[in-house]
Formats: sequence, structure tokens, C-alpha cells
Amino acid sequence: MTSLPLLIELCYIFSAVLFISGIKMLSSPMTARRGNLISSIGMLIAIAATLGKSGLHFKFIIIGIVAGTVIGIVTAKTVAMTSMPEMVALLNGSGGIASLLVGWAEFHSKITTHSGPILLAIVLTVTIGGITFSGSLVAFGKLSEKLPGKPILLPGQNVFNVILAAAIIIIGFMFCFSNSFTAHYQLFISIIIIALALGILGVIPIGGADMPVVISLLNSYSGLAACAAGFVILNKVLIVSGALVGASGIILTSIMCKAMNRSLSNVLFSGFGSGTTKAKNKDSQGDVKPINTNDAFLVLEAASSVVITPGYGMAVAQAQHVVNELGNLLEENGCEVRYAIHPVAGRMPGHMNVLLAEANVSYDLLAEPDDVNPVMESIDVCIVIGANDVVNPSARDDTSSPIYGMPIINVDKAKTVFVLKRSMASGFAGIENPLFFGENTRMLFGDAKASVSALAAKFKG
Ligand code: TAP
Repeated sequence: MTSLPLLIELCYIFSAVLFISGIKMLSSPMTARRGNLISSIGMLIAIAATLGKSGLHFKFIIIGIVAGTVIGIVTAKTVAMTSMPEMVALLNGSGGIASLLVGWAEFHSKITTHSGPILLAIVLTVTIGGITFSGSLVAFGKLSEKLPGKPILLPGQNVFNVILAAAIIIIGFMFCFSNSFTAHYQLFISIIIIALALGILGVIPIGGADMPVVISLLNSYSGLAACAAGFVILNKVLIVSGALVGASGIILTSIMCKAMNRSLSNVLFSGFGSGTTKAKNKDSQGDVKPINTNDAFLVLEAASSVVITPGYGMAVAQAQHVVNELGNLLEENGCEVRYAIHPVAGRMPGHMNVLLAEANVSYDLLAEPDDVNPVMESIDVCIVIGANDVVNPSARDDTSSPIYGMPIINVDKAKTVFVLKRSMASGFAGIENPLFFGENTRMLFGDAKASVSALAAKFKG
């Protein structure tokens, strides 16, 4: 091997080491930022090494780099924090379509010279890439509420999806063993069309509360598509980085399934919540008891233990900084404060952790549901800030509830619960929440940032 190819291979190995170290660091909030930086440096080295290869068309590469950089900078500057989940869905989709295009380009450039294994890799690349792309667009539509969040499960849809998957496998084999270019081309286009259809039909029946699993799974698929693309163009660093994303996405998917107490097959095939949700009669649930900030302050001033439970509404209100301020003021007042984070709170994995880290909430104050639930009955006040589904007791108590079985944070068991939200509207899963009618619940209506700021102002006198 001459010195340049050897140097490129060494750069790839070094990049892979940086990716693995970076991912390892993402496992703790303390090291996550450094992990991101290290992985980014790994990617920079991998790209620089790839540009050192011979036979590249730099005109197209420069156009791609300029276009990608402009789009990246503009979106990073303009996308609101509340739109990050949709952005993540689009980024997953971009990974999928990029892999599909790699497969497409390789198919057209060297179809006559490719061997069976490479053709198989091309099939896998365009199939997984296509499913990831169209599935992510549907996920984007659901998360941005441009498409209905409710699952749409047509009669026989699961069977139809299985037929489509089987069709891809059969056509894929025909593709690998065909000798004619025309037949190859028709089979190739059929695979792409079926993959795109499968992505749409696979995500449309998944609704509301199950979206966390879908986001993680699509993330994993985007990695697997890149890994397959790595086999197509025989690029080791793409194989390694794609496999890492694919594997970490699968681990995240399994964490999300566990957080919701569901199996993956149940999430993917049950059309959870597609039936009519029988909301309980409001009268049978009792009355809502509103509270104002003056009275809420008096209760909090006397509290010796408080659990703050944030949800998507905290992200919408951008209340994390004032929440941290209120937490500090409560601690100064002699109160023990903890933040209970549900794994699927918000709209993307780690959403609440990211926001609270941005506001400098100390990591050791963060607790998981399993940490706080056993002691919830001894907590004086639980402050629910824009959370709804993740604190809905019907997930625990009501067997007819569409979210029955999903572990929740048992805020209703605290001595007093303050729910900070703007109205009686339901959460992402679209179901009513009996917590709001609880004997010990007081509703503090209004924008979460305004309500928390008002409470903090009272503490500051
Ligand atoms: P949700 O159940 O979506 O409830 C959020 C609540 O915040 C709403 O009821 C809303 O009520 C309130 N809110 C909105 N803006 C507010 C503001 N400015 N001030 C105060 N309150 C505000 O949130 P959650 O409890 O965090 O549950 C997350 C849901 O999203 C789950 O169903 C989960 O499965 C799903 N999901 C999660 C993810 C991931 S990965 N985390 C991804 C996709 C979907 P008002 O309108 O009355 O204010």
C-alpha cells in the first residue's frame, strides 16, 4: 500500500476510535458535550481523509458542501428549541435519503461490474434508506402536528405491510441474480417505491404516545442504511459509524419500549389508541380546583420537600431557566428539591435533561421515576410543569385507557400537586387526565414561564 492510501486508512481507524469514545461519553450528562465534540472531530478527520482519495469530482463535492453548510447554519440559527424534535426527524430522514442516493449512484455507475454481495448491499441501502426517509417525513408531520397524531390503522394494514416487506425480499433476490440491465432497472425502481410506501404505511399507524419508539427506531434505521451504504462503496469508516448509530438507536429504542412498558412488536403493529378513546365523564371525575400564585407560594414556602416534574409544556414555555431559579429559591428556603424526569417526557429522547442542563440544574438533583415513585407519598408538593401524559394516573389505574400499562411518575400520590398548564387541554396522546380532578390537585393555569416567574418573584420578596 502506498503512503496516501495507508494514511487514509489510518485516519479512518482513528476516526472510528473517536466515534466510539464520543458515544461512550454521551452516556453521562457530565461528559456528553465533550463526547459530541470528540465525535465531530472524528467526522471531520473522516471527511478530510475521504477528500484525499483519488478520482473525486470536486465540483460536485464543493456544491454539496456549500449547500449543506448553508442549510445547516440557517436551520441551526432559526429552528426554535421547541421544534428540535421535528428537526431530529428530518435529520434522520436526510440520513436515509443520502444512503438511498449512494445506492442509486452506485447502481447506475457500475451495475454491470458489481458482484452479488455488492448488489445485495445496494438493495439493503435503498430499502432501509427509503423506509427511513418516508417514515421520517411522516414522523415529522406528526410531531409538527401537520398530520394527525392519532394512529391511522386501515383494515388489513398489518397484513398488507407484511406483503410489501415480503415483496421487497423477493424482488431483492431477483435483482441480485438478474443479468439484464432493463430487468435490473425495473426491479431496482420497484424496490425503492415499495420501500418508500413501507416507510409511510409503517409509521402512519403509530400514534401519540408511541412516537418516542418510532423516533429512536428511525434513528437506528438511518445508521443501518449508512452502514449498508458503506458496504456498497467499500468505505470502512461509513460501515463503522453507521453500525454505531444503528446499534445505539436500537439500544435507545429498547430503553423507550421499557419506559412505556411495551414490546417493539406491540408498538409497531397494534395501532395503539386507534380506537375511540372513551374519555371519562368530567362530572364523574369531580371538580377542578384552581389556585393562584399567592396561595401556591404560601404552600411552597411551608414545604420541606418538593419534586418538580417537567414535561413538553416546559419546553414550549422555555421555562427551564426560571424553573432552575425557583428550585434554587426553594432550596435556600430549606426545602429539599428534586427533578423527576420521565424518559418520554417532551418530544425527543433526553428532551427534559437537555433543557435542564442548559439551565444549569445540577445533575445530582435529577431523578428517574423509579427513584421518586417509592417516596412520593412523603413529598409535600409535586410541581408539574407542562407535563400531562407522563403523569396521567389512568396509565396505572384504568385498564380501558389507551395508555394503560405505561409507567408514569406518580405525582398524584404526593401530599399536594400543583399542575402548571394553560388550559384543560389533553397532552400528546390526546386523552383526558384524571390527575387534574384529584382531591389533592390544584391547577395553576397560565403559561408555565409566567407562573414559575411569579412564584420565584414571591420568594424574592
Ligand atoms: P404532553 O402530554 O404532550 O403534555 C404537555 C402539556 O403541556 C399539554 O397538556 C399542554 O397543556 C402543556 N403546555 C403546553 N404549552 C404550555 C405552556 N406554554 N405553559 C404551560 N403548559 C403548557 O407532555 P408530556 O407529559 O411531556 O408527555 C410527552 C408525550 O409526548 C407523551 O405522550 C410521549 O409519548 C409523547 N412523545 C414523546 C417523545 C419523546 S422521545 N420524548 C417523542 C414523541 C412523542 P395546555 O395546552 O393546557 O397548556
